[in-house]
Amino acid sequence: MKKSFLSICIIFLFLNSCEKENEAILEIASPNAAIKVNFNLSDEGQPFYNVKFNNKTIIDTSYLGFDFIEAESLSKNFKIINTSTSEFNETWQMPWGEQIEVVNHYNELNVELEETTEAKRRLSIVFKVYDDGIGFRYEFPEQENWKEFLIKNENTEFNLTEDYKTFWIPGDWDIYEHLYNTTKLSEIDALQYANHKNLAQTYIPENAVNTPVTMVGEDGTHLSFHEAALVDYSGMTLKVDTESLNLKSNLVGSENTAYKVKRSLPFHTPWRTIQITDNAPDLIESKLIVNLNEPNKLGDVSWFTPMKYTGVWWEMHLGKSSWDYGMTQDMNTWTDPGKSNGTHGATTENVKNFIDFSAKNNIGGVLVEGWNTGWEHWIGFEDREGVFDFVTPYPDYDINEIVRYAKEKGVEIIMHHETSAATETYEKQLDTAYALMQKYGMHSVKSGYVGKILPKGEYHHGQYMVNHYNNAAIKAAKYEVAVNAHEPIKATGLRRTYPNIISREGLRGQEFNAWASDGGNPPEHLPIVAFTRMLSGPIDYTPGIFNIKFDEYKKENQVNTTIAQQLALYVVIYSPIQMAADLVEHYEANPEPLQFIKDVGVDWQETKVLNGKVGDYVTIARKERETDNWFVGGITDENSRIIELTFEFLDDNQNYEAIIYRDGDTAHWDKNPLDLKIEKMKINKESKLSIKLTEGGGFAMSLMK
Ligand code: NOJ
Ligand code: CA
Repeated sequence: MKKSFLSICIIFLFLNSCEKENEAILEIASPNAAIKVNFNLSDEGQPFYNVKFNNKTIIDTSYLGFDFIEAESLSKNFKIINTSTSEFNETWQMPWGEQIEVVNHYNELNVELEETTEAKRRLSIVFKVYDDGIGFRYEFPEQENWKEFLIKNENTEFNLTEDYKTFWIPGDWDIYEHLYNTTKLSEIDALQYANHKNLAQTYIPENAVNTPVTMVGEDGTHLSFHEAALVDYSGMTLKVDTESLNLKSNLVGSENTAYKVKRSLPFHTPWRTIQITDNAPDLIESKLIVNLNEPNKLGDVSWFTPMKYTGVWWEMHLGKSSWDYGMTQDMNTWTDPGKSNGTHGATTENVKNFIDFSAKNNIGGVLVEGWNTGWEHWIGFEDREGVFDFVTPYPDYDINEIVRYAKEKGVEIIMHHETSAATETYEKQLDTAYALMQKYGMHSVKSGYVGKILPKGEYHHGQYMVNHYNNAAIKAAKYEVAVNAHEPIKATGLRRTYPNIISREGLRGQEFNAWASDGGNPPEHLPIVAFTRMLSGPIDYTPGIFNIKFDEYKKENQVNTTIAQQLALYVVIYSPIQMAADLVEHYEANPEPLQFIKDVGVDWQETKVLNGKVGDYVTIARKERETDNWFVGGITDENSRIIELTFEFLDDNQNYEAIIYRDGDTAHWDKNPLDLKIEKMKINKESKLSIKLTEGGGFAMSLMK
């Protein structure tokens, strides 16, 4: 770390003539000086900060502090006992990711505070200011008279200066699977979503939002609020004061304790983050969240290979087959336990079909859901502890034979652990479950947490579960297992520290299109997700549905995009594991668009966000590691639009064989989603192309050397 007091502007200003230390203003700027954070103490010794972007105040005086159980609040009566600044600049490499090299360049301000009262408790507040935003956290040093505390609430404020156009989901303590709303900040009403249908668990106690929450200002300022490095703490929602335009941290709690977080000192909170840019594409290119996490603690994780995968999955969501072996399809009536109901999906034969298909189509993995005992007792059961077993296959699934066959075909089986949120049962079996995977050479697991958390009273996003998710992933690494959790805790960039945390759900995924009674995910869903949820990390969205209407299974449901957009998602929505989610027969009937899934990369050297507007459209280009081929994807909301593409990002003096998969002339997400036009052409750096995206449409493009 380089100390450079010169490049950092620290101004000590004495506002009044009385020499109170309290009135020093500390200022720290980003390396390019566009973002400035000021820190100060009020007359009462209360810490506050504000943020300027291009000389405009975007966060006005915002106070910081904590309330505790059985201890005085930490809010005022502080004095500054020390301050220091430093500059940090490094470039680190992602073992897999949207790019290889990541620049981590910031200026840091560290303010040490001490109470002027008898207790003399100490607290430091650390700000890191980057060109793409800020992060700050509270650090509690070891101290004589203070060993442990119980946090009732953290009172971090973000006092906004404009009634921003805001893209938000409610501050649900149990699930992020809500549709995004677009309203003014002053019009946020999260409580209208309390008691939502289609959700196996939901709890929205306040008018609060979950993060990332993204805002767009009149002058084009873009802000996104989130957190980084969420470890042994509870998730933060942001309570909205629609009158004063103030956001305040509201931590997820538990019904079992009066406190929300229990920690002993020394300790520090997660980073509170604001990504700040003057345009939409830069939000997606921002690496603030991963940069605020600690470097890789696992070392070499080359045992995990980014891959595309198919699986026994969509067929259950469509109702073609079942997860369980001995229950009728509606999951309500027993047939004869121990005897097959005849619709079980995870049979040796069916899985072999997926293996064959994957091997033929450059797809590295096959996910098998419903392979293990316990599914008869899945949804709606109170007594879920002790039900799921993560080592015992159903009688019609020959796991030894499947693993042998997959290996022969060069395909890896992806393990599935649906815990039904019965965490104690899962924790007891973790070692044996991961050891089984290691024995079979399975290097990734999709886990799931559907239902109310057991033990009762805990929520998916509270401290108890944050620790559960993190501990499971850390343990998995010991067995060379990478984790893709569904119904997870939000991504906070921990993939940098633990690169076996590969992907997760944590949004309304494709599955909602198969069964949600509210019409599924509307065309604007993903053009919002790209600028909200995706800022936090990789998404297991499970794209690639070709049979958009699937009327033979469900007349009432459909995917609300064109087939061209389904292809675009392989590039637009980032994940190091990317599902080809549709049924084998639907792919085999459509070899031409399948070619794109076969060709497209999953691990990138570079990413360029070519254009975009939050909630409307986005185009992203990514260069594949090793091959140097480029892939481009663009998606639009319910409005049709024309995208003008240029190709400056391509290598010099190089011609590329391009295949474009675009919406046909009469394509429309609802009226004609399968109308797809495929064109081949030569493209180089100087090329220009105008592409029309239809309503709910998109385009995908491969550029091979
Ligand atoms: C919910 C997950 O999101 C979905 O992908 C999975 O199929 C089911 N749970 C069963 O585990
Ligand atoms: Ca889910």
